[in-house]
Amino acid sequence: MEALSLRRQLAATLFLLGSIHMNAATKMTSADFGTTPEGATARIYTLTNKNGLEARITNYGGIVVSLKTPDRNGAMADVVLGFDALAGYISSPSPYLGALIGRYGNRIGHARFTLDGVEYKLAANNGENSLHGGTHGFNQKLWTARELPDGGLELTYLSKDGEEGYPGNLKAVVDYHLTDSNELRIDYSATTDKDTVLNLTNHSYFNLKGQGQGDILGHLVMLNAKQYTPVDAGLIPTGELRAVSGTPFDFSRSIAIGTRIEQNDDQLKLGKGYDHNWVLNRSGKALSLAARVVEPSTGRVMEVSTTEPGVQFYTGNFLDGTIKGKGGKAYQQRYGFCLETQHFPDSPNKPKFPSTVLKPGQQFYSTTVFKFLK
Ligand code: BGC
Repeated sequence: MEALSLRRQLAATLFLLGSIHMNAATKMTSADFGTTPEGATARIYTLTNKNGLEARITNYGGIVVSLKTPDRNGAMADVVLGFDALAGYISSPSPYLGALIGRYGNRIGHARFTLDGVEYKLAANNGENSLHGGTHGFNQKLWTARELPDGGLELTYLSKDGEEGYPGNLKAVVDYHLTDSNELRIDYSATTDKDTVLNLTNHSYFNLKGQGQGDILGHLVMLNAKQYTPVDAGLIPTGELRAVSGTPFDFSRSIAIGTRIEQNDDQLKLGKGYDHNWVLNRSGKALSLAARVVEPSTGRVMEVSTTEPGVQFYTGNFLDGTIKGKGGKAYQQRYGFCLETQHFPDSPNKPKFPSTVLKPGQQFYSTTVFKFLK
């Protein structure tokens, strides 16, 4: 009698667990992805939604390794650049393919900033400037992964006080969800035990024709911005907020990336194409549309929404074909574009830009959603 009821209880529990799993918005599986230089095992998590969209994310650098979305006929293609195996990300970290970027996304001028009267020196890994968190940014760290009950993937990283020159023990938590509305949603949160600066983003390179399928010049882009932040020769913002109107930087109406990219324009020359921060039109802090990208030949459409004040639109100008990515595809110049939602580059040295300071007791939150339509 007792054994029977125990068995019943067990059956009921198993049923409950099974139904929780079935009700979860996303299915998740995981596997080993390779060994880090420190000898740890990285994992790769495959998230699949009810429409068959699939995102593969590794806890090494929080990298989005692949992202399969349908074209207008339902044919799936992988729309992000990357490598088939962990070794590629380890040997070629510098294009930051698909990675989580921190502690500070994009550049800090002269690799230093002053906070509360103290000057902090960072690694100069991009000329005299610091780029994407320094020599060993968050993109090269093994994050602690947790599969969330709702089908999301939570990644946590504790960046120690002084790491890459930044003050404060910073706990960063990044959640990835692939929703049944065909969105890849990234929620960032962080806390610190000392005043610090913070700018987190994701560095996925998209090609909505499919990764390795040629350049991105025919993609039609709309950026929801009236201004951008022009740069100097080191790609550090000058501090000016410049109107896009009447310039090749005006994407307020959808236009092909390639239409004006070779124009004789000083800012385009400095970036070797588009590699600038746009100041997003926004009212308040709610999630709002930053960009819409249409790929006419496949019908794939991507909308990017964010709570961040800016977006770095980078057209893969520094790719040069030396990197062989997934399926052995050589990633040539402009084979991918990034829409890195962010605070403006060099904000720690630009008091007029929105602040990137995080203080003890404050909770940092930020959300970016990549939505796929056709
Ligand atoms: C930067 C580029 C850089 C690229 C890859 C972008 O966010 O703005 O200048 O080359 O990342 O490192």
